[in-house]
Amino acid sequence: MIGFKLAAACWRVLTALKQKLQEIMVRVISVDELAKHTREKDCWIAVHGKVYDVTPFLKDHPGGPEVVVRIAGRDVSDEYEDVGHSDFARDKAQEFEVGTLVGHENDTGPTGTLLKTNVPKWAQEAPPSRSVSFPLVPVVVAGVSVALVAAYMYMKSRQR
Ligand code: HEM
Repeated sequence: MIGFKLAAACWRVLTALKQKLQEIMVRVISVDELAKHTREKDCWIAVHGKVYDVTPFLKDHPGGPEVVVRIAGRDVSDEYEDVGHSDFARDKAQEFEVGTLVGHENDTGPTGTLLKTNVPKWAQEAPPSRSVSFPLVPVVVAGVSVALVAAYMYMKSRQR
């Protein structure tokens, strides 16, 4: 009985821990939050589910600052694509990424700035994951699990 309760408690702790770690690793930004940043001195845009704080880049933007500021604070994927930005621009954008637009947390398709113009469609179907390459969540969860099991076994051995 104690074992069952402990296992249930462990499960709850691990689930909460996993959720917390995911929140820390991916900042999810709401539409309302995005809409607050519409000025030249505080300018955010969303492109294909990613949110970018482009404030420091505006003065260097080859298309000029106004064109971006005018449409800031919302999803500008269509406008961004209409310009036909180069792969260089797509790579550059990553420097300014501040989070994921709400509703796009589980996007796995070729929707981010990794969608390169020169990559054939068949090769875009399974893009490499953009999440942290080191499997932090599974490693932490496994580590905590081992610690909890060890603690449980230690407590059991002391009861005898
Ligand atoms: C993360 C955001 C953005 C980055 C990093 C970025 C970067 C760039 C870069 C590097 C260029 C030079 C051409 C190229 O290499 O493609 C460019 C041009 C341009 N961009 Fe952006 N851009 C961003 C967002 C936007 C947005 C939201 C608009 C709105 C429509 C826009 C409009 C333009 C225009 C009009 C040009 C000039 C095209 C030309 O004169 O040939 N950009 N941008």
